[in-house]
Parts: sequence; C-alpha cells; structure tokens
Amino acid sequence: MKTVLENIGLLATPEGSAARRGHEQGEISFLKNAWVAWEDSVITAVGSGAVPAADRRIDAHGRLVTPGLIDPHTHLVFGGWRQHELGMKLHGVSYLEILAAGGGILSTVERTRAAAKEELIEKAEKELHKMLCRGVTTCECKSGYGLSLAGELKMLEAVQELKARQPVELVSTFMAAHALPKEYANDREGYLSLIIEEMLPQAAGRGLAEFCDVFCETGVFTPEECRRVLLTGQKLGLRSKCHSDEIDPIGGTEMAGEIGAVSCEHLIRCKQSGIEAMAKGGTVACCLPATSFYLGSSFAPARQMIEAGVPVAFGSDFNPGSCPCSNLPLAMNIGCYRYRMTPEECLTAVTLNAAAALCRADSLGSVEPGKQADLLVWDAEDLNYIFYRFGDDLVETVIKRGEIAAQNS
Ligand code: NIG
Ligand code: FE
Repeated sequence: MKTVLENIGLLATPEGSAARRGHEQGEISFLKNAWVAWEDSVITAVGSGAVPAADRRIDAHGRLVTPGLIDPHTHLVFGGWRQHELGMKLHGVSYLEILAAGGGILSTVERTRAAAKEELIEKAEKELHKMLCRGVTTCECKSGYGLSLAGELKMLEAVQELKARQPVELVSTFMAAHALPKEYANDREGYLSLIIEEMLPQAAGRGLAEFCDVFCETGVFTPEECRRVLLTGQKLGLRSKCHSDEIDPIGGTEMAGEIGAVSCEHLIRCKQSGIEAMAKGGTVACCLPATSFYLGSSFAPARQMIEAGVPVAFGSDFNPGSCPCSNLPLAMNIGCYRYRMTPEECLTAVTLNAAAALCRADSLGSVEPGKQADLLVWDAEDLNYIFYRFGDDLVETVIKRGEIAAQNS
C-alpha cells in the first residue's frame, strides 16, 4: 500500500547511512511544506510542493516531522524497583557503596530471578508503551539482572517475546558481566568462566542477542576481564559495547576502542585517551544525560568528543537504579542544556547516531528513500521548540514501519 504523510510544516532529519561525526553531527536537512511517501514500510520519496498519488494520506497539520527516536541503551527488563535507595542516595551514600553492600544491581538481581518470565514481560511492555507514546520507535534492551545461565536466558527470552507483542523494534544485548553475583563473591574466575564457556555460547547460539556489553568499573569488572568477555562475544558474532568511565576512568574506553567496540556507554569521566581510542576504533559515544542528572554527577565531555570526530548518541539508560526514567525526549533536552549541544546535534544523537550505535544506520535513523518509515509528528512548528519545552510530551503521532502506532491528542 502507498501512503503519504502530507502537510508537513517542517521536516527535520539527519542524512546518510552512517554515524555523523564532528561538524556533520549538527548538519540537519530542513524541508518546508514537505511530504514523505512510503510503500508498505519503506520510504520511497521525500519532497515539497505537489503531493504524489497514494492509497492513504495522513495529514501532519503543518507540524514538525522528524525520524522516530532510537533509544540505544536501556535495561528494560527487570523485577521490582529500588525506591528504597533514594533516602541513602540523598544522605550521600554512593552508587558503588550501595552495590558493594549487596544492594543496587544485586537487589534487582534477586527480584528478577524471583519473577516469572511473563511478569517481566508485562512490566516491560507497560514501559515500552510509554516510550512509544513519547516517540521511541526502536529500543535496545540489555540483560544483566539474571547473572546465572537460567536468569540471563529468561531475560533474553522475555525480549524475544516482547518483539512479537508490541510495535517498538527491540535490539537485544547480552550483559551478564553487569555485576559479580553473590554466589561467586569469592570466585571471580568461576563467574567469568561461566559467562565465557556457557552463557555466551548459548545466548549467541540461540540468536538471543546481537551485542555483548560489560560494566567496566571499580569494584565491578576490570578492563582485562571485560576484554576477555567482549572478545569471546565477538568470536561468537556478538558486536561489543562497554559501560565505561561512568564513575571511575579505569581504562574501559581505551580497551573498547582498541577492540573496535561499536559503542561505549556513560563516559562521564572519559579522558582524552578514551576519546582518542573511540575516534580510532570508530566507536560511537553513547552518552546518558538523564543518568548524570539523577546520580547528581558530572556530565560526559560530549563537546570534546564531537571536536575529536567521535559520533555522539544519547540513550535513556532506563533502569531501576541509576536512571528510573524512560523518557528519552527529557534525556535529550538535558543533553542539549548540559552538554551544550545544539538541537541539530541532539536530533542526530537520538536518531542516526543512535541507529549507528545499534548497527542499523543503513535502515533507520533518517527520513530518506530506502529507510524504514519510522516517523514522528510533533506538536511543534520548529526543531528548537522541542528542545526548549523540556519535560513536556510533545509527540503527537508515532508512525512505526509505515503504520500509525500511537496517536496522542
Ligand atoms: O547503566 N552502571 C551499570 N548499569 C546500569 C545501572 C544498573 C542498576 O543500577 O540497576 C547503568 O547505569
Ligand atoms: Fe546502562
């Protein structure tokens, strides 16, 4: 079926099928009085003026249209919440202190292990619906709250089932190296062997994940341990991601750049050597502004990354500990203000560069012929407006794979 989205006041989109770096990150194509045509789920033409014939017409009412938002970093599937940590946090107990005392990630592990798969699915589905209504059309989901073969597989299977149950496109990441589980507290080597010899081959062999991620942090996993896990993942066909420099810069980003990781996550304390390693490794810097906001920490040196030619993406980092907020438009607004990135640079960060962080820049992340028809109509007349009205829900219509997936009015 041929569809046309017509009466677009302003179409704003990055262009291309690869991550945009340096000054290119802020180069957005703007088209006034535009239309977008697609057949089935693939965009066939974009133009302004005379609108082509179509079987179905959707009216954008003169509003702003952008590509669908892509959230390249979430911990979507988990049991329970951790609101009890808020008081500790306000009294100055740090994130790593809570984890070292057996709380934090480990308390979510207990709740996730105890939950039935269907329970995890229903909880995640509820959150995905909110994300969709706020414009997220593609979302990455990490495992990492099972920390046992059965627990990790349960999380990954939950993501597989969610793919078929709702419209948001999901990308699955295996992250058993998220914390050392209690039963291995005195046997790091034993847990690493379990990941390398059993979990990774099963997750990859059953096609349950595309990426492998690790938490490279003081008191969690060292760069050398992370390298072993990520290289095993690569041999099994899983592309690498690395949580690094979130709290301490211990060399994770440098290691990840060296092994050609697709993206590094957090990067709050990233050093110049880390930035250079990402530039050399062709790694996308996945910055998580809402996490810095919630942790009350500093913000990643995103401007230096752009200057060094490292493509910057933004994710929500939705999880029950360091960022219990799945609102990607809010994260993108915080990123704009605190990283001092322009609306144009930020739009690229949540569309084309986020697609590149998921190895999908050839099919997602921009409004161009050949790309998937994932589009948003915003209650806004220009791009600045959606970066200025922080905290508001401005997405009006969400089109996913060419179909209206959500309509807020
Ligand atoms: O990206 N830092 C490690 N992992 C998550 C937080 C997980 C949690 O606290 O439950 C993050 O911030
Ligand atoms: Fe994370």
